[in-house]
Amino acid sequence: MEELQKILEIRKKLKRKLDPFRYEHSLGVAFTAAALAMRYGENIGKAELAGTLHDCGKYGTEEALIKRCRKNGVTLTEAELKSPAVIHAKYGRYLAEAKYGIRDQDILNAVAYHTTGRAGMSRLEKIVFIADYIEPLRDKAEDLPRMRELAFRDLDRCMYEMLLGTEAYLKKKRSGIHPDSIEALHYFERLIKEERP
Ligand SMILES: [Fe+2]
Ligand SMILES: [Fe+2]
Repeated sequence: MEELQKILEIRKKLKRKLDPFRYEHSLGVAFTAAALAMRYGENIGKAELAGTLHDCGKYGTEEALIKRCRKNGVTLTEAELKSPAVIHAKYGRYLAEAKYGIRDQDILNAVAYHTTGRAGMSRLEKIVFIADYIEPLRDKAEDLPRMRELAFRDLDRCMYEMLLGTEAYLKKKRSGIHPDSIEALHYFERLIKEERP
């Protein structure tokens, strides 16, 4: 009951901050993360919380977001300023802790790394990253049907393929790729090769 109360309060607060589409997307990520948690034996409540909050820092303009980071002591690296799409995740981690009362480090990391990924990701981090990509409202990526199937079959391979896709996409757009994503890509590549040499 206490858990339910907590998630209802978080949703209420989040709905006031995010635009309606972003809010629905967040619920989609929460439900998808919960389903993946069932499949892989992860804590369902934690997956739901992390999914709900993953984009809590995603509102307002890019400049306003950078300003909010500075004001609240969230340090941004040169790489983050070069690929600003990742900043909302770092700011989101701060908000999840300071404004939504989350203390669990695994949940906070799942919020912080949902855009870039990183080497050595926890199972919860992978679940939220993947849920963000495949939740029901997503419709742009061509490989969605295959990724949706792969997500429930092999988390590590799914991470690897999603990171590969992101790398190709960013290259095509000539945007910078965050160092955490490059390390994540190498990490999952190694994992997969060790599994199936
Ligand atoms: Fe995001
Ligand atoms: Fe998202």
